[in-house]
This record gives sequence, structure tokens and C-alpha cells, in this order.
Amino acid sequence: MLQLDRRKFIGSAAGLGAWTALTRPREVFAQGTPGTKPFLFPENFFWGAATAAMQVENSPTAEGGGPSFWEPFVATNPKLVKDGSSPRVTCDETRYWQEDLALMRQMGLNSYRFSISWPRVLPEGKGRVNQRGLDFYDRFVDALLAVNIRPMLTIFHFDYPAALQQQGGWLAPDSPNWLADYARLLAARYSDRIEDWLTINEPNILWGFGAEAGIMPPGKHMPESDLASGLHHFLLGHGLSLQAIRATSNRPLKITLPIAGMVQMPATNSPADIEAARLSTFTPRKTAVIPEAPPMGLLNNGLWLDPIFKGVYPEEAFNLYPRLRQLARPQEMKIINSPVDRCAVNLYFGPRVRAGSNGQPEIVPPPPNAERTHRGWEVTPDVLYWGPKLLYERYGKPILITENGMSWADRPSPDGRVRDPQRISFLNRYLNSLRRALQEGVPVEGYMHWSLIDNWEFTSGFTEQFGLVYVDHQTQKRTMKDSGLRYKEIIQSRGAVL
Ligand code: FCB
Repeated sequence: MLQLDRRKFIGSAAGLGAWTALTRPREVFAQGTPGTKPFLFPENFFWGAATAAMQVENSPTAEGGGPSFWEPFVATNPKLVKDGSSPRVTCDETRYWQEDLALMRQMGLNSYRFSISWPRVLPEGKGRVNQRGLDFYDRFVDALLAVNIRPMLTIFHFDYPAALQQQGGWLAPDSPNWLADYARLLAARYSDRIEDWLTINEPNILWGFGAEAGIMPPGKHMPESDLASGLHHFLLGHGLSLQAIRATSNRPLKITLPIAGMVQMPATNSPADIEAARLSTFTPRKTAVIPEAPPMGLLNNGLWLDPIFKGVYPEEAFNLYPRLRQLARPQEMKIINSPVDRCAVNLYFGPRVRAGSNGQPEIVPPPPNAERTHRGWEVTPDVLYWGPKLLYERYGKPILITENGMSWADRPSPDGRVRDPQRISFLNRYLNSLRRALQEGVPVEGYMHWSLIDNWEFTSGFTEQFGLVYVDHQTQKRTMKDSGLRYKEIIQSRGAVL
């Protein structure tokens, strides 16, 4: 509804004030005139950090589970992971969780995003339950709640059960139901204590990298018709899971899907460039937006989020994947469009675009001396301003930043301290941009830093570190980095120190 108004207002100085006033959360108003004293993050803001089971636990097979599709994939492609490591033992979280919980408390977090390992609790992906797996998360959730840290649960974060992959994976017509059955199991067990649910982490990356670019499992270059079927099954799986969770729980929950925000930022503040950013972010087309990946169509945000929030595929999706026309049956689109409570997004960087001479968006290449993280992602703090702004404008739901952070080659100094000034500067600048979005009236509910601890980073293995906490992977010893201490100051002051 408000979309037209929001669109008209955005970028227009006259409209912006009124729009801001209309949509500004009450808490934000209470801070007084921006600019005169520090503009504080809302009191009930979620300050958190994020991890995922496969990247911080040990192999699910060690405790009665089955393998995920990563283990055979890594074993058969030994050169794929830079340091030859595997996700069999990452941070041994099932043993070290109490230590990590103490670190969360020390940092002052009030929320924590983690995922449950699907193959740990369902060794074959469906059917037989491994109680030991479920019991672990029971203890963990209780311990979080006991110290007032709000658990935010991702039900599926990249660790697809190998057994289901053997049965066709996301191309199997039953695949949406497999996910929904797993979601129902988790809801029955944890929804009395967990309020915030995230269905599928970044399906645009998983399916794009796995089936279009072939650099993650299942490691294929599938034809367009299969890409379309998988895309539709993922979305249907999300909708059915959401319905299953709501039907199982006897209290209201907050459920949504965290997308990899492939947000493109306007090169200038001109209305034409802002429109180009909008078009590029939400109109499916084959583009190269991630440095380590080839041009892809499946990454686009509108392709995944329009069906969820609006119940339709964007028209351009049918040019890219004609088979979607047959798949988009009204009954299924209705399931995909089941109401979600917020828009969750993982945001790391954003390419800049401008309005090209033919009216089409054109990517503006980064300057040759662009600041980059260890992985090569450009440091673009403004993405935490433009991302929330464009997503809120289009979908009208509160925004939750479910991931943001940077990798570096962190090492302890001889005195044992881990100094990471790059990450401190990253945190300061990105959070400043997020605050600007809040200040202009975008309802942002929280920020989860990726990651709490140095984790296993898929094809990068352990060669780069994302944590606020350093992990020595030989001894599993944890050390809070300087950035973890800085995050604590930011949280305690509600951003006043930024
Ligand atoms: C995201 C993933 C997360 C982590 C970060 C760096 O795409 O969701 O698991 O690997 O990238």
C-alpha cells in the first residue's frame, strides 16, 4: 500500500521530511533533533552476532547424525577448499558452547542468531530423529534464555542432508515438504521458547552458487528449467515451513527468510541513479555482483522476495526462467506469499550503479584503490543505509540485519591480544550508516554481526577470519578481539560512541 508513497518520497528532499516523520519509530523521536546530540539506537534494538551450525560445530556424524552434502562434496573436490580443511571439526561448538555463551555475555549481546544442523537432528534428512541432536539445542536455548539473550533460530543454513541430495535435492517434487516436516519438528520442540524464526539462509546464494555457478554443492551448472524448479521449490519450502511452524506453535512468532542482500547502491543521490539502484536490486537479470563468482541470474533480490512479499514473480523472471510460468500456480504462490513479519537481510557490500544512457542501470566499477576485505569484498558502509531503505520502501516490513561483517587475516600479537583495527573501523562506519537509515525513519529492528567466532568459511576454509572472537583452530582457545570490545562499547552506549 504505502509503496507508491514511499517511492515518490524517497530521494525527494521535500517529501523526505514528511515521510520520515510519518514512519519514524517513536523511540527514535524521543532522541530529539538529529545533529544536536548523539542519535541513539532504540532501547529495544537487537544487538547480536550470528553463526551457523556447520561453520562452528563439529561434524553431525560425530554425534549420531548423518553427513551434510558438504562432506562428500569437499572429499571429492580436494582442491576446492583453499587450505584443504573440511567442516568435520570447525569450532567444536557442541563442546565449547558454554565458553562462547560467556563471551556473548561479556560483549553485552541481547540476541544471538544460530542455526540447527538439519542432518544432526534428522540423519537421513527426514523420518528417524536423533534425540541427542535435539537435546543439545535444548540445553543451548535454555542457557541463552537464562542470561536474557534472545535466540534467533535459522532452521536451514546451507547444511543440506546428503541423504536428501541423493534423492534429487531441491529438484525433487517432495523437497518443499521435507523442509516443512523438519521445520514442524523444530517448532514442536522449541517454539515455546524461541520467538524469532528464520526459514532458509540465503537461498539465492545456495542455489545460485550450487546449481548455476557450480562452486558450492551440489556443484552443477543446471539448465534454466532446473534452476527454475529449484527456485520454486525453495520458495514453496519456505512458505510451507512457515505455515507448519505457525500451526504447531500456540503463540505468535516472528518468521521470515534471510536473503543475501544483493543491494546495489546509487552512484550519486540523483533521482535517476536512485531509480537505477532500485531497478538493479529488484529486477532479475544476469549480472556479476560478487567478485568471486561469474555473472548469475539467481542472486537477484526481487526474484526471491517479490514472491514472498507480494505473491508474484517479477515479470523479468519469466524471461530469464520461462519455466516459471508453468510453476507459478496461484495456489502455490499463495503459500509462498504467507505473511512474514519482517524483512531479514545479510548485507556485506553493495556495487554502485548509475542510470545508463538507454535508461538501464549500469554498474560503476569500484575505483582501482578501493578498500577491500581479505576476501576481496569492497568495503561499502553505505550499503547498511541503502539496503534497509530500498527494502523497506519496496516491502514495507521492519528490517532485521541478520549478517554483516568482514574477513581479515587476524593473528594474535606476541602479548596474546588480537588487534583488528580494520574491523573496528568497519563496525563504526557500517553502524553509522545503519543509524542514518533509522534516523530517516526506516524501522530497523536489530543487527547481527557475522560472526561471533572465527569460523569455517566454506571454500576459504580457515584462511580468513570473520569473528569478533579469535579461535585458535589447533587448540580451540578463544580470545576476544579488540573489535569485540569495541562492539561492547557501541552496544552499551546505544551507538553514542560511534
Ligand atoms: C554468507 C553466509 C554465512 C557466511 C558469510 C560470510 O553468505 O550466510 O554463512 O559464510 O556469508
